[in-house]
Amino acid sequence: MYKMDEVKPAPANSTAPTTPGARVEPAQDQKAAANAVREMFSSIAPRYDLLNHVLSLNVDRYWWWRTARRFRHIARRADASVLDLCCGTGDMTLALYRQAGPGGASIVGADFAHPMLCRATQKSAGLPIQWVEADALQMPFADGRFNLVTSAFGFRNLANYDAGLREIHRVLATDGEVAILDFGEPTGLTGKLYRFYFRRVLPTIGSMLSGTKGPYAYLPASVARFPKPQEMLSRMKAAGFRQVNYMPYTFGVAGVYWGKK
Ligand SMILES: C[S@@+](CC[C@H](N)C(=O)[O-])C[C@H]1O[C@@H](n2cnc3c(N)ncnc32)[C@H](O)[C@@H]1O
Repeated sequence: MYKMDEVKPAPANSTAPTTPGARVEPAQDQKAAANAVREMFSSIAPRYDLLNHVLSLNVDRYWWWRTARRFRHIARRADASVLDLCCGTGDMTLALYRQAGPGGASIVGADFAHPMLCRATQKSAGLPIQWVEADALQMPFADGRFNLVTSAFGFRNLANYDAGLREIHRVLATDGEVAILDFGEPTGLTGKLYRFYFRRVLPTIGSMLSGTKGPYAYLPASVARFPKPQEMLSRMKAAGFRQVNYMPYTFGVAGVYWGKK
């Protein structure tokens, strides 16, 4: 776990257009990048779940469960409202729903890729989960609406990380919590093996199974581009979060950032 005093300030050029968010080649500006991300996830939606489970060797289920369990003190509250942002086909949302149990928090999943949300709707048939088609950078929710906002493997894809953090902060109630689960880059021998898998094996298998090359070349590039833990924590602080922290999962292959409004 990272301690607060290890958090370094964000680089002076943190608002420079080259640093703050995802880019899908050849998209250059934020709008084009966001459109390219939406099209990419829309195109792989039918095979997204299968690919996820195969490529992560099913560890993804454990990461969703572990993150949802960490925040069950909020999910279990009948008066709480929980948002799973960039929910995709809804696995993190469903993990939160299971932690909430009967009579727990009301749960909303939001994403801007319509075909991903269609899959989420099918998977949650009969469950009281609300699905909303929305852009994470401009959410249709009132200030202070949620007690917990999570995002699993989605935040990294935003075209502007600082704007994303500010928007999450806006929709959180005072004392509300944020949890951002995403890939990391392990170090040492694990890191070497992982990088070989992530940059060579995964794009090859992913492209074969999905029939499209782009998304699985984009994935390692987007992880390499994502701020390292200390920088991410300082960006969270700059967006107004307190008690920010990071917990690596599975040798740092993934990890969760959290903080309080
Ligand atoms: C890698 S998927 C993760 C889905 C799901 N949370 C999971 O853990 O499997 C990333 C998701 O983020 C969504 N996304 C990316 N940028 C977004 C934005 N600006 N607004 C809303 N959703 C966004 C994509 O549409 C996609 O469904």
